[in-house]
Amino acid sequence: MNYHLAAVAQNVKASAVREILKLTQGDSIISFAGGLPAEELFPKEALRQAFDRVFQQGNRALQYGLTEGYTPLREAIAARMIQKGMPVSAHEILLTTGSQQAIDLLARVLIEPGDVILVEDPTYLAALQIFRYHSAIVEPVQTDDDGMDLATLEQKILDLQPKFIYVTPTFANPTGRVWSVERRQELVALCRRHDVLIVEDDPYGEIKFEPDMLYPSIFSLDAQDGGATVVYTSTFSKTVVPALRIGWAMGHAAMISAMTRAKQAADLHSSSLDQQALYELLTHFDLDLHIVAIRAEYKKRMLLMNDLLTQKQWNSVRWNKPAGGMFLWLTLPEGVVAEDLLSVAVKEGVAFVPGAEFYSGVPMKNTLRLNFSHSSPHALEAGVERFARSLGRYLNESDRHLLSPQWQ
Ligand SMILES: Cc1ncc(COP(=O)(O)O)c(C=O)c1O
Repeated sequence: MNYHLAAVAQNVKASAVREILKLTQGDSIISFAGGLPAEELFPKEALRQAFDRVFQQGNRALQYGLTEGYTPLREAIAARMIQKGMPVSAHEILLTTGSQQAIDLLARVLIEPGDVILVEDPTYLAALQIFRYHSAIVEPVQTDDDGMDLATLEQKILDLQPKFIYVTPTFANPTGRVWSVERRQELVALCRRHDVLIVEDDPYGEIKFEPDMLYPSIFSLDAQDGGATVVYTSTFSKTVVPALRIGWAMGHAAMISAMTRAKQAADLHSSSLDQQALYELLTHFDLDLHIVAIRAEYKKRMLLMNDLLTQKQWNSVRWNKPAGGMFLWLTLPEGVVAEDLLSVAVKEGVAFVPGAEFYSGVPMKNTLRLNFSHSSPHALEAGVERFARSLGRYLNESDRHLLSPQWQ
């Protein structure tokens, strides 16, 4: 059979990295590759009880549900958002199948083929995939430690008239970066001036290592002056469990209504059983206390991975020490190709994601992402050892002229 795939489906290529990472599923590999939360912390018993309570409610609980999502859960999310300084009502919230679907629905309702989307560089790989699937032109904006360079952004807005700007301002994937408050405020002012929508993706905002630090969402800053410039997305994947696949989008009712129509065409609604169970969980379980435990454990793991890497005394390897989230972002010596290093690492029994995948501009091939949240402290120690061995082997096998004196 000759399958006449649409051009877009033909153009989205299988990634070589993904093929290598498929080899890392077995128990013998320590994977720092996935963006996975720690399974030991999943609130399994509370979730089981939540499902039990839904089943006790009778067969109606197993029926089709509203496209917008289970109303009590939308109300509960609105209440949580208000507590965090984000004024929103339930009808401005759409429940989605993970926040991944929220990004996809935004793309469906906004992007015409050839539209320009501005992004940080590097940025979340699966958002890039969505934008490409919708035949958008993804344009990187130079980004420093405080966020996007706004002079460059303004010039690109004037030159390219983007459909929207996609940002992950708090503990970004892959860099762990946090935008400064000033940069957030200026972004809102700039986008208002030019009437450009901001899509703020915030799956990691709750996972902060200094509990008293405040990272006001761009949505909240926009809301102080009337709102409507930002559509915000988040998820329960990192704070409860990813298997529920429950995320949400919130923003102006007109946007939410367009996204709801797109969702109806996509999947009618997300699992109503799971949404009801999550609502039961939120009403009988102290999620905020649970988040405190997640923060403490992830901070411990991040510090351990940071220390283990520091002990290697590699002068020419740099990485961030993130204030939250799930990732360390490493820059290796110039000339190292992280994708080639991955092939060596997999043989040594450890995996990571090469950084080039996350760029929409010129990729920095000597970068890579390490996840610290999923591995136990023991696995972190063994994995960093294997990583160090792979790096040594890779450098021995590759051209000596790549090496700075620290490696000889
Ligand atoms: C930046 C970012 N956005 C969105 C998602 C999607 O998460 P989910 O669909 O599980 O809510 C992820 C997942 O890792 C992510 O890192």
